[in-house]
Amino acid sequence: MKPLQIGNLTARYPIVQGGMGVGISLSGLASAVARQGGIGVISAVGIGLLEGNNKNYRANNQKLFEREIKKARKLAPDGILGANIMFAVTDFDDMFRIALEQSLDIVIIGAGLFLKIPPTVDKDQFIHSKTKYAPKLSSARAVKLTLKVWDEKFGRLPDAFVIEGPKAGGHLGFKKSELTGELKPLDQIIKEVKQVISPYEDKYGQAIPVIAAGGIYTGYDMFDIMQAGADAVKIGTRFVTTEECDADIRFKQEFIRASEKDIVIIDSPVGLPGRAVENDFIRSVNAGETKPIKCEWRCLKTCDWRKVPYCIAQALANAAKGNLDEGFAFAGSNAYRATKIETVPEVFAQLIDEYHKAQKNAAVYS
Ligand SMILES: Cc1cc2nc3c(=O)[nH]c(=O)nc-3n(C[C@H](O)[C@H](O)[C@H](O)COP(=O)(O)O)c2cc1C
Repeated sequence: MKPLQIGNLTARYPIVQGGMGVGISLSGLASAVARQGGIGVISAVGIGLLEGNNKNYRANNQKLFEREIKKARKLAPDGILGANIMFAVTDFDDMFRIALEQSLDIVIIGAGLFLKIPPTVDKDQFIHSKTKYAPKLSSARAVKLTLKVWDEKFGRLPDAFVIEGPKAGGHLGFKKSELTGELKPLDQIIKEVKQVISPYEDKYGQAIPVIAAGGIYTGYDMFDIMQAGADAVKIGTRFVTTEECDADIRFKQEFIRASEKDIVIIDSPVGLPGRAVENDFIRSVNAGETKPIKCEWRCLKTCDWRKVPYCIAQALANAAKGNLDEGFAFAGSNAYRATKIETVPEVFAQLIDEYHKAQKNAAVYS
């Protein structure tokens, strides 16, 4: 298995842990993955809802994000650590600045197109930053636009792309109609993306690794998608049912109790579809019930809190803390495959073992 090379950054294993908000991947999970030789990712989204006074949400967000980065660094001093920051949140610019100030190894930018330098960071700092940038996108079209704008406006390219297919968990970059019928295979999207990237790699003399995400659960899945051209994988769901995952045990148990039919697509107030484990909360919202909101902080750029049936940030924070009566668990399409709680080293050992088995099988039949 080849290490993942992103510029001067080398991860021993091409395994990136998916950043999972709110409060699912913090310093505990991220540092455990980094210690195993993968890339551990803290989710910055809504982090301030997990503790303290919600009235100071913005300040809390920043304080807790910094604290989690420092904690993760202590727990994995030699590991590679990153953050997932959603473009759709109103404090994206501040969280991005903190990631650079704290010299995180990599920032993965999800839920939106990242086409302008945040005003909290100056152009020079942005262009020459030690922190690597990896936009998370779901189509070759979005990758093409991103490359064109970065080339023309910034004179530099993203350091990597995360390409997330329709089987992933959380908010999804697809229309609901694209998620309920036949799903577009991730390997096809990866091949299309590689074609779009190639001329830019030539122009800049720089390799831009493609990290595939969505529905990768075993080392066999990993091998298949890397055969299709991915340089690495990004795995979320599989890491939820680990001891080190930062969510409450009741959140993890939602995955263990779920059967395949419990994994459903919901309409999120963010304006994107999301994938989650169905529960009474989701059923009541689907039946038309609304949960009263008094929004103090306007965390999402796209959310009109007067119109949405519930507060998604609060529902996800409640779930992370184990209160599934007032929230629900986001989950990838494979969440129902979990049968027990494992440790991160156990998951790594299995992924690597299965990958090597798949590799051997492929050699025998070729
Ligand atoms: C519980 C959960 C929460 C997630 N939260 C976020 C998030 O806040 N931001 C984001 O960009 N992606 C989020 N994701 C997506 C993951 O980072 C990852 O790309 C995806 O889960 C990969 O698919 P998999 O779960 O099938 O492995 C979330 C996924 C899950 C399962």
